[in-house]
Amino acid sequence: MKDNINRRKFLQNSTLASAGLLLGSMGLFSFTANGNRTLNLQNISYSDRKKRKIGTLEVSAIGLGCMSMAGVYNPRQDKAEMIKVIRKAIENGVDFFDTAEVYGPQYSEEIVGEALKPFRNQVSIASKFGFDFSGNGRNGRNSRPEHIRTAVEGMLKRLQTDTIDLLYLHRMDSGTPIEDIAGTVKDLIKEGKARNFGLSEVNPETIRKANAVQKVAALQSEYSMLERVMEHDIFPLCEELNIAFVPWGPLCRGMLTGRFDENYIPETGFRRAGVPYFTPEALQANLKVTELAKQWAVKKNATPAQIALAWAIAQKPYIVPIPGTTNPNHLMENIGALNVQFSNSELKEIRTSLEAIPTIGFRTKESVFTNL
Ligand SMILES: NC(=O)c1ccc[n+]([C@@H]2O[C@H](COP(=O)([O-])OP(=O)(O)OC[C@H]3O[C@@H](n4cnc5c(N)ncnc54)[C@H](OP(=O)(O)O)[C@@H]3O)[C@@H](O)[C@H]2O)c1
Repeated sequence: MKDNINRRKFLQNSTLASAGLLLGSMGLFSFTANGNRTLNLQNISYSDRKKRKIGTLEVSAIGLGCMSMAGVYNPRQDKAEMIKVIRKAIENGVDFFDTAEVYGPQYSEEIVGEALKPFRNQVSIASKFGFDFSGNGRNGRNSRPEHIRTAVEGMLKRLQTDTIDLLYLHRMDSGTPIEDIAGTVKDLIKEGKARNFGLSEVNPETIRKANAVQKVAALQSEYSMLERVMEHDIFPLCEELNIAFVPWGPLCRGMLTGRFDENYIPETGFRRAGVPYFTPEALQANLKVTELAKQWAVKKNATPAQIALAWAIAQKPYIVPIPGTTNPNHLMENIGALNVQFSNSELKEIRTSLEAIPTIGFRTKESVFTNL
């Protein structure tokens, strides 16, 4: 596995360099005749690369969410530009990419498949099934076994691969028993079409039932400095059953980056409109947490987005956030969060501050017991 990386670009961009790898490890680089360095990824230990485990996978501690590339918080993006963003992520140590059939629909998977094809053996792809489409329309949830099989065949084609490293149920289909869904994924894993099973936004009972049929490798639900409800009944269960936790929305859909002020009005048609924590009243309260991230950014010589991501990673060793971006500069900023570390006393101080800030529009503790 080799990445040819232009030396100057590498030194400008690489978080690996600033993490001390250039000085700290032997045999990381070989040199080509034209002066380029070749980064020998096989010589980098997992701890050097800040890896985390998800079932049978070992992935970068920060992944890349590819949802908005297909237009969710912004218009649908140009494929060639998004391929550049994904490949820039790989050049800079990211090897875990999150998509879903429903994003676009299907367009995000097409982008991810094309971008990752030349790098397939270096990266892990996560995708999700759970909805029914005809043409471009979405016809609600469907995880009946025969539908999962059809969906997965399409996903494999679009992702240009013969296996999906982490195959998630995106949303529970109340018409299909979870045991049947888990059993279908178990068969797909036996057939080599998937490697690990994940769930998204389901309750503890569903997780236990699914896990009894097929080991659950990952749970993907919303989690950030603002939305902390998963800490109550889900994190203990992840620990008990050895399930990795993959936070979506680790930047609270951008709120924690500092890009919005209290006058922000979500654009109609995109997926911040109607979200209860983005109403004017809620924003006024919730931006106090962004202010806290800004204060820590000054202390840590970082940005608020980096504080939010570093905070999430520091909560548990089994957490792998997947911040979503369509912007190469934001991508580099987010990867830079791997260089921000907190001491235990700093984490306690942040926790005390967070608990003192009343927020508006987030989930109640009881809601964890429902499948979303
Ligand atoms: N399982 C589920 O139900 C579920 C639900 C939602 C999302 N997801 C997955 O989780 C991923 C992440 O969640 P998310 O995208 O909803 O929320 P997020 O990562 O918290 O926030 C994404 C938003 O933040 C902005 N952003 C990212 N980095 C930034 C930076 N450094 N500075 C300023 N703005 C920045 C992005 O805009 P730019 O493009 O301009 O950077 C985008 O609008 C998604 O891509 C998707 O793969 C899963």
